[in-house]
Amino acid sequence: MDIKIALLPGDGIGPEIIAQALEVTKAVCNKFGHTLHYETGLVGACAIDATGNPYPDETHELCMRSDAVLFGAVGDLRYDNNPAAKVRPEQGLLAMRKKLGLYANLRPVTTFPSLIHKSPLRQDIVQGTDFMCIRELTGGLYFGRPQGRSEDGNTAYDTCVYTREEITRIVALAYEYAMKRRKKVTVVDKANVLATSRLWREVAKEIAAQYPDVETEFMFVDNAAMRLIQWPSSFDVLVTENMFGDILTDEGSVITGSLGLLPSASIGRHTSLFEPIHGSWPQAAGQNIANPLATILSAAMMFEYAFALPQEGSLIREAVNASMEANICTADIQSEGMTPCGTSEVGAWIVNYINNK
Ligand code: IPM
Ligand code: MG
Repeated sequence: MDIKIALLPGDGIGPEIIAQALEVTKAVCNKFGHTLHYETGLVGACAIDATGNPYPDETHELCMRSDAVLFGAVGDLRYDNNPAAKVRPEQGLLAMRKKLGLYANLRPVTTFPSLIHKSPLRQDIVQGTDFMCIRELTGGLYFGRPQGRSEDGNTAYDTCVYTREEITRIVALAYEYAMKRRKKVTVVDKANVLATSRLWREVAKEIAAQYPDVETEFMFVDNAAMRLIQWPSSFDVLVTENMFGDILTDEGSVITGSLGLLPSASIGRHTSLFEPIHGSWPQAAGQNIANPLATILSAAMMFEYAFALPQEGSLIREAVNASMEANICTADIQSEGMTPCGTSEVGAWIVNYINNK
């Protein structure tokens, strides 16, 4: 089939990790007889430098005419802790999510047996962890208005807004995923304090009633933060609003060993987007040390979710697991005493594995 994708490498290590994911995507297309078409676009700090806009119209048009977007990372030291910056790279990501209608961010957290010793948690706690975080991505505090400062500058405010419709579509999606998994949904909120959370809970109860086979658990976000490190294997599908999801998915991402390993998919009304969970790590840019696996695994999710090609996805996963077992690893996950490999070496090994399969 025709595989038409937009590549948005972004900033920092983005271009290096996207380059490896592209090579892997090419190898898979080659193996399975697909025709790959790809175009590259600007997003983030590099887009601000070139056009003044972190998500230029040309990039949006490119995404809209593609079947999937493979995204690296955005962010640049010039903008961090710089209150004078009028426009920020991260705004490009937020604008993209909003304009593409990417309301659901799916972040699977799974254990890799060869890496379990890298987890900050005890092995017996991590063992068997396999859950899907579903984070609402286009509502809540991130987009609610009003947002800003009082005239004297001494008061600042953000507004958390959710509509019944926004909650319904994300919670229903969580139940659909649960039906394909172990049939348990944990709805995370702060219904003891927040009005938006009380609406979440009300809507979630209505949806839960339509899925009698699925076990529903309601959990306050503070409790969920604790349970994630105490008993991560108790989760199956966790669904939550934007800000809670941002925080809990970072927590979830280290449970299994390395932030460099977790892919994500953002799906919604238009083209779906696939990106690693980690950021742009500007300090490492150009050094060939970043772990490309989260981006390569994001390409696996792309085959599965955007193109309904599970075999292609599982070949990538198999190759990634084989690379770790062969100790072809970047420094963040390399075993003690072994020399770490570079970003491009890991990518080339995986491409080679796929070619020889
Ligand atoms: C993420 C990131 C973004 C977010 C930032 C870069 C705006 O932390 O994708 O989780 O907060 O959503
Ligand atoms: Mg985040």
